[in-house]
Amino acid sequence: MAYTKRFDGRGFEEIRKMSAEVGIISRAKGSARFQIGDTIAIAAVHGPRELHPRFLRKPDKGVLRCDYDMVSFSVSERKRPGSSRRSMEISHVTGKSIEPVLDLSKYPNTVIDVFITIPQANAGTRCAGICAASLALADAGIPMKDLVVAISVGKAGDKVVMDLTKEEEDHAEGATDIPVAMTPRNGEYTLLQLDGDISKDELKEALVLAKKGCDEIYTLMQKTLRDSFKEKK
Ligand code: CDP
Repeated sequence: MAYTKRFDGRGFEEIRKMSAEVGIISRAKGSARFQIGDTIAIAAVHGPRELHPRFLRKPDKGVLRCDYDMVSFSVSERKRPGSSRRSMEISHVTGKSIEPVLDLSKYPNTVIDVFITIPQANAGTRCAGICAASLALADAGIPMKDLVVAISVGKAGDKVVMDLTKEEEDHAEGATDIPVAMTPRNGEYTLLQLDGDISKDELKEALVLAKKGCDEIYTLMQKTLRDSFKEKK
């Protein structure tokens, strides 16, 4: 199917409108909100603190524990509260995508908890969650080699597109979703998933788009942190 005009009128390489802020939850050590289109992610960081039960402790390094959850009213069809296979998978890949920028050997026997909540979802929630988590960790003052930035790219109809919406995922024929996370400074991928079909050349094209998207988000995230540090001074 020729996909000539996007459902929301955006250009094929255009990202949805974004906004970000940090320090939104006073009781958390660090926190952030990241919004992309109608998708909103909130992240709160607690710790490093002693890990209980003791047998989970690692004497040589801290444990990063990510918990992703979508609230019941975040999607059009009420989501059943509590954990699911999907939320466990997303929590796991979120942790894996963030761990490379942390030096956990500094925090033996402790845990750093990152709680990610999605109050409103319209596709790309794991990527928004990773951006929010990364901002919240920086806000918590945890040393990081770089920020981890994430965007979903993919295919809708016959086009390689940036930042798919739920409508595109559901209604564009042969939609393919590719969540990507990277550390922009060294250009390394920390997450690459693929749901759907895509040719090798289209995948290459999609990854070029992901880099472009991540650079845009990186600029916003850096500005958000810089502005908040200025305010704290
Ligand atoms: O959100 P993300 O793209 O990272 O993950 P997904 O599992 O591919 O879900 C895609 C989208 O489906 C979500 O962003 C929600 O908008 C929607 N969804 C839903 O409507 N109900 C659910 N129980 C789960 C997801």
